[in-house]
Amino acid sequence: MNIKTLIEQLGLDESILQSGDLAVYSPADGANIANVAQDSPDQAGRKIGEAAESFKSWRIVPAPRRGELIRIFGNTLREHKEPLGALVSLECGKIYQEGLGEVQEMIDICDFALGLSRQLYGLTIVSERPEHKMREIWQPLGAVGIISAFNFPVAVWAWNAALALVCGNSVIWKPSEKTPVTALACQALFEKACQDFGNDAPAGLLSLLIGQRDIGELLVDDVRVPLISATGSTAMGRSVAPRVAKRFGKTILELGGNNAIIVAPTADLDLAFQGIVFGAVGTCGQRCTTTRRLFVHADIYDQLVPRLKSAYEGLSIGHPLEEKTLVGPLIDEQSYLAMEDALNKANLDGGAVHGGGRILSNEYPHAFYVNPAIVEMPQGSNIVEETFAPILYILKYSDLSDAIARQNNVPQGLSSAIFTKDIQEAELFTSEVGSDCGIANVNIGTSGAEIGGAFGGEKETGGGRESGSDSWKAYMRRMTSTVNYSSELPLAQGITFDTGE
Ligand code: UN1
Repeated sequence: MNIKTLIEQLGLDESILQSGDLAVYSPADGANIANVAQDSPDQAGRKIGEAAESFKSWRIVPAPRRGELIRIFGNTLREHKEPLGALVSLECGKIYQEGLGEVQEMIDICDFALGLSRQLYGLTIVSERPEHKMREIWQPLGAVGIISAFNFPVAVWAWNAALALVCGNSVIWKPSEKTPVTALACQALFEKACQDFGNDAPAGLLSLLIGQRDIGELLVDDVRVPLISATGSTAMGRSVAPRVAKRFGKTILELGGNNAIIVAPTADLDLAFQGIVFGAVGTCGQRCTTTRRLFVHADIYDQLVPRLKSAYEGLSIGHPLEEKTLVGPLIDEQSYLAMEDALNKANLDGGAVHGGGRILSNEYPHAFYVNPAIVEMPQGSNIVEETFAPILYILKYSDLSDAIARQNNVPQGLSSAIFTKDIQEAELFTSEVGSDCGIANVNIGTSGAEIGGAFGGEKETGGGRESGSDSWKAYMRRMTSTVNYSSELPLAQGITFDTGE
């Protein structure tokens, strides 16, 4: 699949591919697929100003009508699912099926947001004063800033944007500098949807800021942007959160994960096997929900672990657009080196490393394909660092409380899972003494979280994104309004002011 054809199918002009000096390389073969224009600080400032202006018109469009735009956008995505999925695959290296899956998740959030557009409910509260009514009214915030990472280059934006837009906000998006072309394609599709929607979609409802970290920082520091939703590493979140807090802005953060699966003695091992392999090697280990640690009960260790090792030997690794491929490349050389470092360290810590190492380097000298690795760790060890690569650390346990404690004993708290048929174990895992993560799954792995749930996170994961059933509230401000329909104005007891008459 050729990038020129893909972007043409997505409604972009070919000239966009050579419009500036931000070089984009496909992780599939290292080829320079585009050089796109970057925003100068001045341009970025102007776009933020336009977004703030656009908000003023968008907020008065009724929410169900705003939902209509998202419905049209969802349909536009349905019509362009294949080329967009392929472009995602080409630009970030995930396999085609995962690229399609990502576009499907965008479509799903549009449906979810469309439903929400008629359900932005507020509660009424009984007033303690006679003939008074109190109610909660949810108001849009303004221009919402979205910062997304390379690994979900389009879905993460859509999960945020669909909600932000039905809530009445405008959106400014700073995509990863590694994946600007998919972002440009999304913008073109969104603009197409705006045209079909009609003239109550104001100009500047969605703008893109293309550039490096400094452009992201400009967005983060701008007081005209009341909310920043940032997805990426914990290090990134550590920089974003205090900067936004300094100007009393709001943040939604979804950061690192160090996700574990516990496999109990009663587990359905076929089910567990599928969940583990998908979680550990899917997206070449570059999902925030990737399975990084596996706690296997001593009684079944020798049944499960050899099976995993042999499955790893047979994985089909290769070009992400080839049909038979299950594992594509890492995003770049830096990721490969980080993987090597982590494996060396595990080795020094007494771990037995199976797999790992660069492959296909003759065919693709400028791409970084690796063998996913399994590391059997010695008794009692734990892994607290997250490496964004396909490394699965296997640890043995014999007592569930101990396994849960070790699972929780990391700085991050994103996703977790247990495979068990024992109802007490399952209920314990999701209880207050169980997993401390935002996501706690039973008989399903750590990745594959659904739209509408929390892409949740605790601790260094940063609170999580679109946190579940009332996620939309994060994109709005709560207003309490009290209405007095009496002819009295009851103030604090005993207080009345002399009218002077
Ligand atoms: C992410 O990596 O940012 O559950 C989220 C999953 C996907 C979402 C991943 N649906 O793996």
